Amino acid sequence: MQIKALAAAFAVALSVNAAWAQAPIVIKFSHVVATDTPKGQAAERFKEQAEKLTRGRVKVEVYPNSQLYKDKEELEALQLGAVQMLAPSLAKFGPLGVKEFEAFDLPYIFPSKAALYAVTEGPIGKSLLKKLEPKGITGLAYWDNGFKIMSANKPLHAPADFRGLKMRIQSSKVLDAQMRALGANPQVLAFSEVYQALQTGVVDGTENPPSNMYTQKMHEVQKHLTVSNHGYLGYAVIVNKKFWDGLPADVRGQLEQAMRDATTFEKAIAQRDNDLALEAIRKAGKTTIYNLTPQEQAAWRTALQPVQRQMESRIGKDLIQSITRETAKK
Ligand code: LMR
Repeated sequence: MQIKALAAAFAVALSVNAAWAQAPIVIKFSHVVATDTPKGQAAERFKEQAEKLTRGRVKVEVYPNSQLYKDKEELEALQLGAVQMLAPSLAKFGPLGVKEFEAFDLPYIFPSKAALYAVTEGPIGKSLLKKLEPKGITGLAYWDNGFKIMSANKPLHAPADFRGLKMRIQSSKVLDAQMRALGANPQVLAFSEVYQALQTGVVDGTENPPSNMYTQKMHEVQKHLTVSNHGYLGYAVIVNKKFWDGLPADVRGQLEQAMRDATTFEKAIAQRDNDLALEAIRKAGKTTIYNLTPQEQAAWRTALQPVQRQMESRIGKDLIQSITRETAKK
């Protein structure tokens, strides 16, 4: 009898172990934008590929729209291991102590997407991701969004039009300097709070690529929008380093492959999504869309020129120079 009972207990223990062995590895992927954006769609694509390539050994749970965490909290949650994967914009790494990413926010630093890719896909991009490791973070890829437009409830044609406006920015000090150079008062707010802040007049205006503006309905509370393309918005896809290093090597390889696929997909849709979003804003008919004349563009460039010099000591003169050298080749 005793032997039988022991055998039964052993069998139960074995089946519990087997169940454990089969339990999928869960990756919680948190982000702050809508699913219907370049980043949101790429996160879904990564999920699909990761689950397919690992044959279900990995389950990816995507939490869009700040459902789990807002901007600042999500980085803390990643470091604590409460989530495993994020794709914050490059403008949000300053509070983590990696200020160099703010180089991506410098006005007019990338003359084209080709120039941008030369940086993100070359040695500069790689060395920037390496700077995350002492923070317990592994950088996997850069995802693209696009060049930013400006919005407010008044026309924004000349730098003087910004005087005294309260403009929502991400946490980057470069963006703070950019808005000040235009004579505006920058205000840092989490992305999830922007629509309401615009609606209630807590801030007067903001900047973002069209896909973010449209999917958050910002155009419904902003009467004027200027296609200024004055700065860039992109992302670093990052994981908790301890989690990543602890994965079985074959699984990590499959996830790297899934990330390569999602990254190619993301880059292919980013521009088109932004063009479509701008068109949708135009069709919604609530916002006047303005394209700067060449003279106005020149005036914006002149007004924003001092920002680079001002930010040299924060970001590093050498880094800015190496970006400028790389982009000049394109
Ligand atoms: C923001 O303005 O906070 C956005 O750029 C958010 C995002 O992740 O695109």
